[in-house]
Amino acid sequence: MKPQIKAFVFDVYGTLFDVQSVKAACDEQFPGKGDQISQAWRTKQLDYFFTRHIMGRYADFSVVTRDALRYALSTADVTWTPETEDTLIAKYAELSPYDEVAGVLNELHGKQTVVLSNGTDAMLTALIHNAGFTDLFDELVSVDGVKQAKPSPAAYMHWFKNSGLKRDEVLFLSSNGWDIAGAKNFGFHTAWINRDEKPLDMPDLAPNAVYEDLSGVLEWVTDEAAWP
Ligand code: LAC
Repeated sequence: MKPQIKAFVFDVYGTLFDVQSVKAACDEQFPGKGDQISQAWRTKQLDYFFTRHIMGRYADFSVVTRDALRYALSTADVTWTPETEDTLIAKYAELSPYDEVAGVLNELHGKQTVVLSNGTDAMLTALIHNAGFTDLFDELVSVDGVKQAKPSPAAYMHWFKNSGLKRDEVLFLSSNGWDIAGAKNFGFHTAWINRDEKPLDMPDLAPNAVYEDLSGVLEWVTDEAAWP
């Protein structure tokens, strides 16, 4: 029996937007090193966010994003100016949405749609606005409001506590396996947007549904969903 989903809650970076779309800007500044810098930037961004949370020295996502960029540039053995750094940081507000996202969000119009992201309020507001998605979400929620990184339960609770819903009335969508595991651990139904056909991270916290892109969520707008 398919559960009645009353809120669709979305992760942002990697789920709605391609974090590797900064590669072109990195390559423009440092020809031939764009992919290396872009990959290291994302890896270190999450590494710093999680590590600081665990050690009790939380820093917001804008801080770890800049620190991670500096690390990535250093590993690429390039020298850079503060202006170059600011130019690349600015690109994080202009990430490319995946091709299907606008259409899917428009199909969900009238349903409760929420962003719950590790990004700061300022980062999310700018990114969603620049993509033209502002009117497609009922809420933009940053974990920075509670200074707890997803996948900690406190991060999901930060939005959920005021939702007026039951946990099994929420479908949480992310491309990040650690985020899907965290949301499942919290008690939400989960849909993993497995764009890169990755193996499952944590089988004990497996998603309820796996889609190759965001359009899979539309089966919850009709009544024919096959819920495992
Ligand atoms: C987000 C990415 C970091 O929270 O998963 O949007």
